[in-house]
Formats: sequence, structure tokens, C-alpha cells
Amino acid sequence: IQSQEKYRPLYHFTPQQGWINDPNGLVYFNDEYHLFFQYHPDGTTWGPMHWGHAISSDLVNWQEQSIALAPDEYGTIFSGSAVVDWHDSTGFFGGQAGLVAIFTHHDHNHELDRAQQRQSLAYSLDAGRTWIKYQCNPVLEHKELIDFRDPKVFWHQATEQWIMILACGQTVHLYRSPNLKEWTFLSEFGEGIGSHDGVWECPDLFPLVVDGQSAITKWVMLVSIGSSDEYIEGSRTQYFIGDFDGTTFTPDASSYKVRWLDYGRDHYAGVCWSDIPAEDGRRICIGWMSNWKYANLTPTELWRGAMSLPRELTLEQRAQGITLIQQPVQELLPMRNTILSLEHVTIADIQSKLNTLLLESYEIHMTADIHSQFALKLRTSQHQATVVGYEGDKGEIYIDRTDSGDHHFHPDFAGKHIANVHQDQSVIDLRIYVDRSSIELFANDGQVVITDLIFPEPDAQGLDIQSLSQDLPVASFHIYQLIPS
Ligand code: FRU
Repeated sequence: IQSQEKYRPLYHFTPQQGWINDPNGLVYFNDEYHLFFQYHPDGTTWGPMHWGHAISSDLVNWQEQSIALAPDEYGTIFSGSAVVDWHDSTGFFGGQAGLVAIFTHHDHNHELDRAQQRQSLAYSLDAGRTWIKYQCNPVLEHKELIDFRDPKVFWHQATEQWIMILACGQTVHLYRSPNLKEWTFLSEFGEGIGSHDGVWECPDLFPLVVDGQSAITKWVMLVSIGSSDEYIEGSRTQYFIGDFDGTTFTPDASSYKVRWLDYGRDHYAGVCWSDIPAEDGRRICIGWMSNWKYANLTPTELWRGAMSLPRELTLEQRAQGITLIQQPVQELLPMRNTILSLEHVTIADIQSKLNTLLLESYEIHMTADIHSQFALKLRTSQHQATVVGYEGDKGEIYIDRTDSGDHHFHPDFAGKHIANVHQDQSVIDLRIYVDRSSIELFANDGQVVITDLIFPEPDAQGLDIQSLSQDLPVASFHIYQLIPS
């Protein structure tokens, strides 16, 4: 039945019903990926927050579970993280390993007559199926700060302690703990650096080895910034690259220029999975595919809100310096069903094939000369098209959703979202993931990502490609229909 619903994605996570926003508690344990999420089960707009829950063995097929955390006497349940407490530092697990969630309790302090945000714990004795709230919650509060939320916790091997990164208005704070229960302030980061166009939210901090094997390890900090009316972009996520010594994060010089994780409008509050085994070694991020500017208004019915595709993050030494690279996870590959596979063709060749196809959820993978120029029209009907274009002369890539379908729910929804491509190779490659109501573009070997929601009519399933020259050579062009198992 779900697959019949207008706009219901075919291979992105959505809740069966109700509202979702941020991914929470991303953790891998006992061969399962857990995805918790900000959830309002009783409505399709933001409301009293719970943690919803889904489990997957492959990051693609998700089984929704019962609600993990519901509001209690300390408030509603805002964003946070989960870890495997391998050595039972909490004492919750009788010497065994188990899952601990660290989240924000949000409520109203009547004495102070203002919102109050405090960090709390919950643990699971059955691999995440049910959760017990710690009886001494909350474990961390602040006398002055009102915005004090979204704890992301990780074990820092070098100093043998838990580290928490927390969003505190216009900066992040770092804390340490031996047992997840008692926390000591370490340092603050964010003054005089980065974008401050909105409140800082949902941070993450993790190490990546540059080029996978070199001796250089760098730390990446993700910071989402909330929506404010002044900025047409709404909410989005910036990142910093630097070093972390167990106490302080020190940004590289390159981090003084603002860099976005995603140049579209619909990738927010993205954070990474915890405890992916060392033999795998990947750092995998997922984001909420919406934007606070219009998240409550998007034209879906039973549910509202979807997750992005999971992406693997790496650092590569490229001509422009150390660069954050994002690629869709390899677990997506088995979904492919080849529709078109062309090598060394022209725009005209591709066009004649595309004009015979009708598709609604698929992947395009193409490569062309770095100096070329072309525009792909996707999810087209007589009046609708989403355009993915590359302009080699300007080094720009874009998604234009001006005529992509329904956009009347918000004046800032329609528009063209452009990103700069570092033209450091002879070829440009594009991987484009199209679903019922979204499009994700990974370009230039993962240097640029653009994620945008779209709301085309279900029968807008045409495809086309255009260029100034019909003879423009295209090195390769593949289309795969994507069908989850
Ligand atoms: C980010 C956010 C978080 C907060 C949650 C509430 O989208 O505002 O800062 O914990 O959503 O739902």
C-alpha cells in the first residue's frame, strides 16, 4: 500500500506515519545498524518529540520498530547519539557490552520561565529493542545556556575517555567522562569561525585517515546551522577540518572559509554511525532530507520527512588541499537493474535512448570531459522537469527545481542550487539518485553533493539530455532502475 502513496520514496527511509526530523542514536551493534530519529507519532508536523527507531542489516532496507524513547517528567526527547559501552563503564550491563543513548531532555523551567535543555541517558538490555531511562537523569545541565543540546558521544582511545560534543547556541562545547554519567567541561569551539547564520545544532566530531592509508589523521567536525528568515538557504550543515588532542579542537587554516557538507537545500542534521567495526572502518553519515524553512509544509499526507541516502565520508589529498569526499554507500549497488549502458557516445545518441524511457526511481552514472556543458532533465512531463546541469566553462554544477513540480507550499522552495567543482581532473563524473520525491547528486568523485526534495506528479517520468552541441562526446552513460529487495 505504501508504495502506492504519492511522493512516498521507494528506497529512502520514511516512517510509516507521522513526522520525523533529525537522525539520532546512529549505532552499529550485533550486525545491525540502528537508526533512531526525531519523531512525532501523533501528527505530521513537529510536536512533542520522541525517538522513533528502525533497524537494518544493510543500510538500505529498514524495519521500523516501536518507539524507543517517549517524553517523561523531564521533558520531550530531543536529538542525541548512542554508543556501545563495550567495557560496561556505566555499570548498566553487569560486565557485558550494551547500548547507551545520550540525548537531550527539553522542557520548560517554570521558575526561570524559559526553555531548559539537559542531557540524559537511557540503556538497552536487549540490543536496542527496549530502553530503560537512567534513574539519575539528567546527567548534564547548564545554569545559563538555553540552547544546550544534541550530544554526540564517542570513545577517545588515545586519552581513554568518553568525549561529548554539544551544541551551545553559537559554539560547541566539549566534555569528557569516564562513565557517561559524570561530565567535565573541556573546551569551546566556534567563536570567530564558520557560519553563524543560525543556531548551531547537531554537531559531530570524528577522525579520518587522509587517503585511507597515509600517516595523516585529521578530525572532521560537522555543525548544522538552524534556519533563520534572513537566509534563503534555510538550515544546512557546515564542516571543519582540524586536529583534536582529547581536549581541544584546532581548525586547519582551510577551515576559516565556510564549507558546506551539501550544496542543496535538503540535507540537515547529518551525523555519523558509531561503532562500525574496525575491519570495516567506514565513516557513514545520514541526514534528514528536509529544511526547517518549509519542513512542516511539504505536500505529503500520512508521513512527513525522509532520510537521505547513507554516505561514506573520507578525506583525500587533492589539488585544493585536504578535501572531504562523500560517496553513496556500496550497499546501494545490489539494487541496480541496468536499463541503459552506453560508452563513447554523443549527446544525440543518449537523447534518442532517453526519449523512449519512463522511470521514477533510478540512478544515473555518467562521465564526460571536464570542459563540457550539458543539462539532464529528469522526472519530466509536459510541464515539469528537474534539471541537473554541468557548465564546464564556469566549473559549476547545479540542480534546478524551479519547475520540478509542486512548490506552492513555500515561496523559497523553487530555485536553482549551484556548487563549484574543483576542476582538478580531465573528466567530470556524476552520480544522480532519483526517487519519488528527492534527488541526490554526487559529482567530481564525491567532492560536491547536492540534495534536493522535489514533488513532481507521479506520471512525470520522462528523461532528456541537452547540450549546445548534439555531437558533444560523452565517455559513459548508465542508468539503473533502483529496486530495493
Ligand atoms: C535540529 C533540531 C535539534 C533538536 C531537534 C528537535 O533539527 O532543532 O537541535 O534537538 O531538532 O526536534
